Parts: sequence; structure tokens; C-alpha cells
Amino acid sequence: MADSRMRVLAVLCLVISCLSVTEAQLRANYYQQSCPRAESIIKQTIRNAYNSDKTIPAGLIRMFFHDCFVRGCDASVLLDNSDSEKLGAPNANSLRGFNVLDAAKAAVEAACPGVVSCADVIAYSARDAMELAGNIVVNNWLGGRRDGPVSISAETLTNLPAPFANFTTLLKVFRSKGLDQNDLVILSGAHTIGHAHCGIVLQRIYNFKGTNKADPAIDPSYVQTLRNLCPQTAPGNIINMDQLTPTVLDVNYFRDVNRGRGLFESDNALRTSPIANALVKIYQVPQVFSPSFVNSMRKMGNIGVLTGNQGKIRRVCNVA
Ligand code: HEM
Ligand SMILES: *[C@@H]1O[C@H](CO)[C@@H](O)[C@H](O)[C@H]1NC(C)=O
Repeated sequence: MADSRMRVLAVLCLVISCLSVTEAQLRANYYQQSCPRAESIIKQTIRNAYNSDKTIPAGLIRMFFHDCFVRGCDASVLLDNSDSEKLGAPNANSLRGFNVLDAAKAAVEAACPGVVSCADVIAYSARDAMELAGNIVVNNWLGGRRDGPVSISAETLTNLPAPFANFTTLLKVFRSKGLDQNDLVILSGAHTIGHAHCGIVLQRIYNFKGTNKADPAIDPSYVQTLRNLCPQTAPGNIINMDQLTPTVLDVNYFRDVNRGRGLFESDNALRTSPIANALVKIYQVPQVFSPSFVNSMRKMGNIGVLTGNQGKIRRVCNVA
């Protein structure tokens, strides 16, 4: 009797857990049936763009980060309205890659109209960007995200960390997205590619917290380099974040941070936590860095995703 009741329970539990696994979720080769060439079409578009501009991957990887941290990976970052995320301070005159993403979306729309979401176009592009800039192969990248309808500029300020943030604040923001200290450290390694506007670091290199001096945490010889690249009167100048290999997704960021050559206070903040600081040293080993970076990018790609019949597939990525 007790035995058969147990059996009924077991079957019930099985049914319930089966229901929850058949619930829509991300999976590899998501478009294999509905648009078999989707991933290769996107990859070819990104590769073409990369061949004429080696800095494209930086824009795309940052786009993925800024999409996923604000309302989840739902392509809200691509929407246009009078008060959209694009207009938020972290994004305005700074995010790059919109044209490449539009080209990739247009190419998959031509092959399979209304099938591939803008959120997945961003995610696949970020994967391709990692492969190109990191000279690596990333298998089993998940698809199946759907596009959200809402984009609000103010949400960029509350969901994206500022370059002036200390370690506590950085970790708080990452934890609020289901990411941990390791993800914070390894994903900050994206600052081994791409560029920044001088305006963000002028105070840090000329008048840190009203001292009329540079942030004492910066290597003095690097202060000089930065001052040469960023005269006080030129906030609009653009500087590479990695002076050595600015288009290669390598471990140079961690070598730099470890020597006081991180560009932002948020980069240097990683040295102020014992665990993060230990990770900064560990990730100077390329064989450790690459798989860990990919792993945390996968985690980032799961944040707040819409799946199944949630959201929609936008035909044009900037229109809800
Ligand atoms: C941890 C907190 C982070 C802060 C405070 C931060 C802040 C910034 C800032 C201020 C810029 C310069 C933007 C400009 O001047 O145009 C930048 C650039 C960049 N960030 Fe971050 N970031 C963070 C984490 C990340 C993460 C997690 C990723 C991706 C995984 C990322 C990828 C990039 C890339 C690739 C660039 C270069 C963009 C380009 O060349 O257009 N960042 N970041
Ligand atoms: C970090 O920054 C936050 C926000 O500015 C501040 O409230 C907090 O006291 C700072 N923490 C430390 C340890 O400096």
C-alpha cells in the first residue's frame, strides 16, 4: 500500500519535472529546423565586418553585456524610442556595432523571415566576436531568446556598473544578475579589447578625488602614457584599453590590472578584494583565461531571457 502510494508520488514528480523541462528554454542548434543556416549567415556577416575593422568584436561583446544586464538578453538595447536604452549615459555615443547587427539581422531575415530573434542575433554575434578576437572555437552556444518590447534609458544607470564603482558595488550589480565574483573578474577581462573615451578617465589621471594628482593606484609610468593620450582639454579622444594588443582577446588585461595599469577605477577595484586579486593572477594564464571567459559569457547569455511564447521575434531590431 505504502509502496504503491510511493509509486504514484514518484510518477507524479516525474510528470511535474518533465513539464518543467519541456518548458521552453535555450538550447544549442536552436534554429537547426527553422533556419538551418542562421548561425553561419550571422557568422559570415560578422567575419566580413571584422575583415575591414578589427575593432568590431569589442563593440559586439560590449553590446551583449549591455543588452543582458538591462532587462535580460532581450535586445532591448536595440530599440528606438524617445527614451530608449541607447540614450542612457553608458550607451550614448559609445555603444558600437548597430550597423553590423542590422546587417546580420537583414541577412537572416532574407533567408528565414520572422524566425531569428534580435536577442539571438546579438548573442551569436558576441560568440562570433569572441571566436575572431580570441582565435578560439566556441561550441554549443545557446539560442532561443525572444525579443522584449520595452527599453528605458534610466534603467542603464541602475543596471550597468559605472567605471568609478568600487568592488562592493561591482559585485552587488553582478550578483543581482545571478553572476558571481569569478564572473565579475573574468568578464572584466573583455577590457583587453576595444577603446574608451578619455572623458571617463580625465579626473582619474589629473585630479583624483580633488587631489590635483592622479589616482595613486595607477602605475606612475602609465599615468604619463595616459596623460599623453588624453590631454586635459580632450575628453573626446579615444584610447585603447589594452595598449599592447587592443584587438586580441588575450590575457594582457590581467597583466595590466596586476601592475596598476587598469584603465578604470572599476578595473583596479578587482585588486581590492583578496579573492578577485587572486583570480587576476590566475587569469594571466591563457589556457585558464579562454575557457573561463567563454563560460561566464554563456552565463551572461542566460540572464533574464524570454523564451517560448514570451516576447516576440522582431522583424526590424529597432522597432518593438
Ligand atoms: C565590470 C564593470 C564594467 C564597467 C564599469 C565597464 C565600463 C566600461 C566603459 C566606461 C567603457 C568605455 C566606453 C567608452 O568610452 O566608449 C567600456 C568599454 C568596453 N567594455 Fe566595459 N565595463 C564593465 C564590464 C564589462 C563587461 C562585463 C564586458 C563584456 C563582457 C565589457 C566589455 C567592454 C568592451 C569590449 C569595451 C570596449 C568597447 C568598444 O571598443 O567600443 N565591459 N566598459
Ligand atoms: C563603495 O561605493 C558605494 C557607492 O558609492 C559606497 O556606498 C560604499 O561605501 C563604497 N564601499 C567602500 C568599501 O568603499
